[in-house]
Amino acid sequence: MNHHTVDTGPGHNRRQWLGAALGTTLASAWPAWAASPPATSATSGGLLTRRIPSSGEALPVVGLGTWITFNVGNDAPALEACTAVVRAFFEAGGRLIDSSPMYGSSQPTIGHALAALQQPQALFSAEKVWVGDAARGAAQIEASRNFWGVPRFDLMQVHNLLGWEGHLPRLFEMKARGRLRYVGISTSEGRRHAELERIMRTQRIDFVQLTLNLLDREAEQRLLPLAQERGIAVLVNRPFRQGDLLNQLARHPLPGWAADIGCDSWAQVALKYVVSHPAVTCAIPATSQVAHLRQNMGAARGRLPDAALRARMARDVAAL
Ligand SMILES: NC(=O)c1ccc[n+]([C@@H]2O[C@H](COP(=O)([O-])OP(=O)(O)OC[C@H]3O[C@@H](n4cnc5c(N)ncnc54)[C@H](OP(=O)(O)O)[C@@H]3O)[C@@H](O)[C@H]2O)c1
Repeated sequence: MNHHTVDTGPGHNRRQWLGAALGTTLASAWPAWAASPPATSATSGGLLTRRIPSSGEALPVVGLGTWITFNVGNDAPALEACTAVVRAFFEAGGRLIDSSPMYGSSQPTIGHALAALQQPQALFSAEKVWVGDAARGAAQIEASRNFWGVPRFDLMQVHNLLGWEGHLPRLFEMKARGRLRYVGISTSEGRRHAELERIMRTQRIDFVQLTLNLLDREAEQRLLPLAQERGIAVLVNRPFRQGDLLNQLARHPLPGWAADIGCDSWAQVALKYVVSHPAVTCAIPATSQVAHLRQNMGAARGRLPDAALRARMARDVAAL
C-alpha cells in the first residue's frame, strides 16, 4: 500500500476521509465516562473506524487474527478457504491482519491469499517478532516479510514481551528509517500485565495488544485507561476466548438489548462489547469461515453500546 496516505478505500484520500469523518462522528457511541469523545467515526462505506493516536490514521474497528485458523500447511482446499476469508475481509472494508512467527504456517497462508488477491492496497500488516535473542530479530522479521510478500510491515509487535529490551531499540530504529510504520508489544490472557504497564509508561510504543472480552476484563482496570492517557493504540486479541465464549453463549437466546445495538448474533455482541471501549482501536477475531467473517465485520457497523449498556452486557453474560 501507499504508506504515506491514509487508505480508506478506493477513491478516498486522507483529506476526503477526514472531511467525511468529522461530519459523521457517532455521538451516541460516546461512553459517559470518557473525558472526550473517542474518535469513532464512520467511513463513507459505513465501517466504524478509530484513529491510531500517534498518527491520526484511521483503522476499521474489526480486523482479522490468524492463529490456528490459518495454520493449514499445504492443504490446498484449506488454503483456498483461507483465501476466501481474506477476500471477504477486504470486500467488507477490512484492513488489519495480525500474525506471528509462532502461528505455524499462518504467515505463508496469508502470503498465498494476498498474492491471489493481487496485494490488496487496503492491507494494514501487523506482525510480531518472537525470539528471545534480539540479535536474531532482524532475520526473523525478514523471513516473515518474505512469507507475506509485502515491501515492509505496517506494525511490528514484540510477541508476549519476549526479549523486549533487546528488540525495541531495533524496532524504533527501523521505524525511524522508514522500514516499519508502527512499533508495538503484545500479550494475552492477563500475562505479565505489570511488566506491560511499565513498558507502556516508559517506552514510546504506538500499539499494545492485549486480551479483552465479555469475561476477561482485567485490562479495563489499568491498561486501557493508561493506553488512553499515553496515546497508545490498542489491538484486542481473543475477543471470543478462542471460540469458547461463543460456544458457551450459543445455548442462550440473545438478550433483548442486542437488537438495540444492531446485533443478531452473540459474535457481534462480543465484538461490540470490545470495540465500544473508548481505548480500543481494533479487535482481531480469527475465523476460518466466510460466513463468520461477514458476521464479525457486521460488528463494525451501526450503533455501539454506551457505558451503561456495556456494564449491563458484562453483568448479564457473567450471570448466564
Ligand atoms: N500473545 C499474542 O500476541 C496473541 C495471543 C493470542 C491471540 N492473538 C491474536 O488474536 C487473534 C484472535 O484470538 P484467538 O485466535 O485466540 O481467538 P478468537 O478470535 O477469540 O476466537 C477464534 C475462534 O472463534 C471462532 N469464531 C470466529 N468467528 C465466529 C463467529 N462469528 N461465530 C462462531 N464462531 C466464530 C473461530 O472458529 P471458526 O474458524 O469456525 O470461525 C475460532 O475457533 C489470534 O488469531 C491472533 O492473531 C495474539
